[in-house]
Amino acid sequence: MKGCMVVGKFVVEGGRTLQGEVRVQGSKNSTLPILAASLLCRGESVLYNCPQLTDVEASLTILRYIGCTARREGDVVIVDTGCVERNDIPSALMHRMRSSIIFLGAMIARFDRVKMSFPGGCELGPRPIDLHLNALREMGVEISEEHGELDCCITDRLHGANIALTIPSVGATENIMIAAATAEGTTIISNAAREPEITDLADYLTACGAKISGAGESTVIIDGVARLHPASHAIIPDRIVAATLMSAAAVTGSDIRFKSIIPSHLGSILPVFRECGCDIQCVGDGMSFHSPYRLRSPKLIRTMPYPGFPTDAQAPLMSVAAVADGLTVFVENMFESRYGHVSELCRLGADIRVEGRVAVVAGARRLLSARVRARDLRGAASLVVAALSARGVSEIEGIEYLERGYEDFELVLSALGAEIKKL
Ligand code: UD1
Repeated sequence: MKGCMVVGKFVVEGGRTLQGEVRVQGSKNSTLPILAASLLCRGESVLYNCPQLTDVEASLTILRYIGCTARREGDVVIVDTGCVERNDIPSALMHRMRSSIIFLGAMIARFDRVKMSFPGGCELGPRPIDLHLNALREMGVEISEEHGELDCCITDRLHGANIALTIPSVGATENIMIAAATAEGTTIISNAAREPEITDLADYLTACGAKISGAGESTVIIDGVARLHPASHAIIPDRIVAATLMSAAAVTGSDIRFKSIIPSHLGSILPVFRECGCDIQCVGDGMSFHSPYRLRSPKLIRTMPYPGFPTDAQAPLMSVAAVADGLTVFVENMFESRYGHVSELCRLGADIRVEGRVAVVAGARRLLSARVRARDLRGAASLVVAALSARGVSEIEGIEYLERGYEDFELVLSALGAEIKKL
């Protein structure tokens, strides 16, 4: 990500067993679109279980730049979007996180004319936004793209449309839902993304007065309403953070308990850990996780849109495969360049070969400590997981990437008994 400076590192002494109970933070990928959607509500929305992350702070900075107020009280964020002064987002703010494109639908619905720069590429390879732009054009937005700037305006009115997505893009589905909430008429999104974060956004918008059906399914129907009102909403738990903590427990041969999770959101993740020999019992929003003395390798992990295996959990699970008994084949179907963590895992002693979108991991009994550098958010998480299992003291640089998505990760792990410090 362009806005990231290289600061901060973790020092991890591997080999400690984890124990105890952990509460999983709120979902980053729910919080970001919901903060953008709050722009349409013209008043004070209260968001509970809102994680304190650099990406969330970047969204709050954008809201403040536009003229809104935003404050945090623990894990509660209160945004007041009653007052707005600006209809642009400068490139410095757009480049702080790629997901800033999620403001486009909300801005155009609120202002009729919007200027913002392209969010640009990122560490996962090219991240096009053609689906977002084409959908908004179908809804009546004129968009000119010049010199990396987007100039968008509504000459007539923002109206509903039948939008068939060629890829079930999470961000495009969210942008369309937000823009459609107060557009004139009905919008039907086919081949919509089905991620739990889509449903969470729909729940917030519905609480604000929107009329949405089908969220979480392939066809989402939004009947535009004249205006939305502010609402309170509790963000869902972060399924990727849960998967990362399960990975940490698995590689250290640990037993831990989770609270505040939604097991159904982990539908494609739990079978992989069970294949590794982990015993997992879910009761309500709690889960006990027991890992065996020696993990078995999961045979094949193919990343897919939800409800398939999430691309965001690929990197942490690769650290699990790296210490399991046998071979694992990974196929990354979502992003072109999502194996940035592999070379660093190899420095920790992992045996991984990459060919295009395929990575083959031959599990080792034990990894070795090393000094490694994170290059992206989930890759950073995979390095922490690997270091927890490695013999000796490892240093992980580039943890500012990790802080985009994991709240106080070193404190969460320390509370479970890990030997990890942030320098
Ligand atoms: C979201 C998540 C991210 C996750 C990803 C896939 C947030 C803030 N981020 O990102 O953590 O890894 O979903 O589950 O929720 N595409 C296009 N054109 C577009 C849009 C997307 O070709 O206009 C392609 C992308 O290049 C990618 C695929 O569609 O190959 C899926 O991307 P998308 O679902 O849009 O991901 P994001 O919403 O950016």
